[in-house]
Amino acid sequence: MSRRNKIYEGKAKVLFEGPEPGTIIQYFKDDATAFNNQKKGTLSGKGVINNIISEHIFKALGDIGIPTHFIERLSMREQLIKAVEIIPVEVIIRNIAAGGICARLGLEEGTPLPRPLVEFCYKSDELNDPLIAEEHILTFGWADELEIEEITHYALRVNDFLSGLFSGIGIKLVDFKLEFGRLYEGDDYATVLADEISPDGCRLWDSKTGEKLDKDRFRRDLGGEMEAYQEVARRLGILPSAD
Ligand code: C5P
Repeated sequence: MSRRNKIYEGKAKVLFEGPEPGTIIQYFKDDATAFNNQKKGTLSGKGVINNIISEHIFKALGDIGIPTHFIERLSMREQLIKAVEIIPVEVIIRNIAAGGICARLGLEEGTPLPRPLVEFCYKSDELNDPLIAEEHILTFGWADELEIEEITHYALRVNDFLSGLFSGIGIKLVDFKLEFGRLYEGDDYATVLADEISPDGCRLWDSKTGEKLDKDRFRRDLGGEMEAYQEVARRLGILPSAD
């Protein structure tokens, strides 16, 4: 990894120049952060698990016709992706109240929402990814109306598909975060799903016990983070079962 040219280092991933123009290598680290970097730690093996979980999910989404940046997994911690211009808007989809929305609206954690809720946040570590409205996205030119429409459409399709996928393995998809990018071909571009989908950016609760199988274990000092991430991978059928 050290011989590659680093393009960007984020909290949980590093991006390196890819072997061909228009490609990037996405490297998954073991670093864990929460509350916008105020809490930091290392979860040994997290990068490996998130790489395979994200690969599995991006391939499945590609199979149902959702365009993504994913090309192929290269190694335990690396995947080859298409270079895209990241749209500076984080898209959060919620099915059950937890985390931020409980604090903001005084909802009790676990309250089912009447319908999936799509929220937008401005992607800015300095500002702590503030919640924004579509009007802000348009006013500041972060995306245009067509992109917002496409992003919302894809986000709801991803939610439908993943809710079913997780429900089939005894997991409730409470909420999750998506990022999108612009894939340029000449002057034209397509909106594609980017970043990763893993227990770092989803809330996943065991359907029977309610046990948290996601980064809230780290955020709330519950322990057992890696066991929970491995359990998700095992149920997805991408890790050998423990017994
Ligand atoms: O904190 P909040 O409740 O708004 O998070 C909603 C969902 O989005 C959670 O699953 C969380 O893991 C994810 N998220 C994320 N990255 C952020 C903010 C939220 O992955 N910067």
